Amino acid sequence: MPVKKGRRIGVLTSGGDAPGLNAVIRAVVKTASGLGYEVLGIEHGFEGLIGEPNYRVLSGADVRGLLPAGGTILHTTNKGHFGGKHVVGAEDDPYVEAIENIKKLGLNGLITIGGEGTQSITLELSHLGAPVVGVPKTIDNDLAGTDRTFGFDTALQVATDAIDRLHTTAASHNRVMVLEVMGRHAGWIALHSGIAGGSDVILIPEIPYDIQRVADKIMEREKGGSTFSIVVVAEGATPRGGSAFYMAPGRLGGVGFTITEQLGQITGKDCRCVVLGHLQRGGAPSPYDRILSTRYGAAAVMALHDGITGEMVALRAQDIVTVPLEEACGHLKTVRPHSDLVRTARGIGVGFGDDKD
Ligand code: F6P
Repeated sequence: MPVKKGRRIGVLTSGGDAPGLNAVIRAVVKTASGLGYEVLGIEHGFEGLIGEPNYRVLSGADVRGLLPAGGTILHTTNKGHFGGKHVVGAEDDPYVEAIENIKKLGLNGLITIGGEGTQSITLELSHLGAPVVGVPKTIDNDLAGTDRTFGFDTALQVATDAIDRLHTTAASHNRVMVLEVMGRHAGWIALHSGIAGGSDVILIPEIPYDIQRVADKIMEREKGGSTFSIVVVAEGATPRGGSAFYMAPGRLGGVGFTITEQLGQITGKDCRCVVLGHLQRGGAPSPYDRILSTRYGAAAVMALHDGITGEMVALRAQDIVTVPLEEACGHLKTVRPHSDLVRTARGIGVGFGDDKD
């Protein structure tokens, strides 16, 4: 459909990338075109709204072949100028600049694709009068307000595949293999992949671990004739009474190698560590994530078209709905230590490194 006068929306991707970002952009462009909107792709996240706006017009040709493509054609930035708390009235206020640019570009709406940080910036822009709708993204699945973020399913597949592969080499060498996966404050990837991959111990930020308990589980298995073990640990897991491991200020890392060394010392077994890192964020989205991303992108455009603003599209049970941005901001969705998923894992003998093991 030709662009109708005065119909123009912007879309940007912000924060860490996740498989499915391009699929959302594609769905936004296709759905918006069908409703007569021109779409401006804002480059480098919210940074593209600072100074002279950095954008390009996205047409059908620009999103051709994008559905299975990892990364984001619009590039992304971790907060940038919007990193700190918004100080109203400050000189060079990035929010004021962004609002001015949204007006200058003639946007009837702005779709922001990102996690909690992104949605908090989006909420602030909404408070300042910008017409905005958020799309929930993060491989960590820790964004509140939605049952699922896109990117999680793909990361889960990568982590599960890694556990499957570690099983065979662990069994061949009678070793303990420790897999460190992402998950800063929430253990969703570790918990789901640990169950899907049949690991023996799962360590998550929500349940502080005691390394002796982990070692006990491995030795208990040994006594039962299982001469190898798989431990999955979220990067943000913490020892009981201790704190998370950092490789650099603000950058988590090191828990996998630390517990590998400790387990070797306590059990006397040969132990190895694998850190999965950004492999979980790269590459093609899974079919599930392609569908979820497409639903989110389409729903975001339709929400703006219906005059909705200050909301985030979300998955609730079977349906895509919109929820107030406030629901997604200021707190994270973490694993409940007494949830059925944790109890299920315990029930089949998985250890969490605590007193309930
Ligand atoms: O996307 C979230 C996340 O994957 C976290 O689990 C991880 O700590 C972080 O991103 C790392 O991001 P970066 O290396 O881009 O700073």
